Parts: sequence; C-alpha cells; structure tokens
Amino acid sequence: MNQRTFIMIKPDAVVRGLIAPIVARFEACSLKIERMELGNVTREQAEASYAEHEGKPFYTGLVAYITSGPVVKMVLSGPEAVTVCRKLMGATNPRDAAPGTIRGDFGLTLDANIIHGSDSPESATREIAIFFGE
Ligand code: RTP
Ligand code: MG
Repeated sequence: MNQRTFIMIKPDAVVRGLIAPIVARFEACSLKIERMELGNVTREQAEASYAEHEGKPFYTGLVAYITSGPVVKMVLSGPEAVTVCRKLMGATNPRDAAPGTIRGDFGLTLDANIIHGSDSPESATREIAIFFGE
C-alpha cells in the first residue's frame, strides 16, 4: 500500500555533514521525496511531536536537543514507506542498530541518534500536520 511518512534528519547529523549520505539511502530504495526543507524546529512543534514522551526522564533533553539547530524535514512516499523507512533507520539506540542501517552506520548515542521517522501511518499524518501544516 502506498504510504507517506515523515522523516527528520536531526541536528547532530546536519552539523556533521551527513545530509547527503542519509538522503541517498532513501533514494536508493526508490522512495519519493515529496517535500524537503532545512529549518529549525520550534518548541511548540517539538512538544507536539514528542507529546507521547512527556514526563519521561529524557523528555526535557529531547526537546532541547531537537530545537538546538537546523534539521532537515522530509515527507517521503512509496509502498509501505513507514515500515521501509524504519528498517532503513535501524534500532533507536545506535549501539543496537545493525550495520547497514542509518543509525548503525552513523549514530553515536541514544540521545543524538541521527534521524527520526514516523512509527505508524497515523503518526505520519499527525507529524506532517505539525511540521508542514498539511
Ligand atoms: P524517533 O521518535 O526519534 O524516530 O525515535 P524512535 O521512535 O525510534 O524512539 P522513541 O521511543 O520514539 O524515542 C524518541 C527519542 O527519544 C530518545 N530516547 N531516549 N534515554 C532514553 O531512554 C531514551 N529513549 C528514547 C531517542 O533519541 C529517541 O529517538
Ligand atoms: Mg518515535
């Protein structure tokens, strides 16, 4: 089934000059780039998108980190795009992420883990609304 998903290249990856190699991974899988924008995440956007983690010990740091510098926001589409992108990204903790995945190859720590991708089609719809106002 054709799906849309929301992907964000996080501040640490932008600072480290990893935009191009990460985008190349998605293009290699024939995912279509529908939207792509470099910019900062507002506090409101960060709190809305990470609402599920509010109250957890890492929540404050997570919001501070994602608003700390420019990110690349993308909408990608293709067959089973949500699942395909999560597979390409690898496990949340780069230490557990398999070699060949984006987090496995480029990630250093759980806090700065390079990339975000929607975890379900419903999350994708919600996140695309938050970040692109669609
Ligand atoms: P994301 O939302 O960023 O795509 O990551 P995810 O679905 O793989 O993981 P999620 O559970 O949604 O966690 C969101 C982000 O919070 C940070 N985190 N820290 N210290 C911790 O125990 C912990 N757990 C999660 C990670 O940076 C993760 O990407
Ligand atoms: Mg998540």
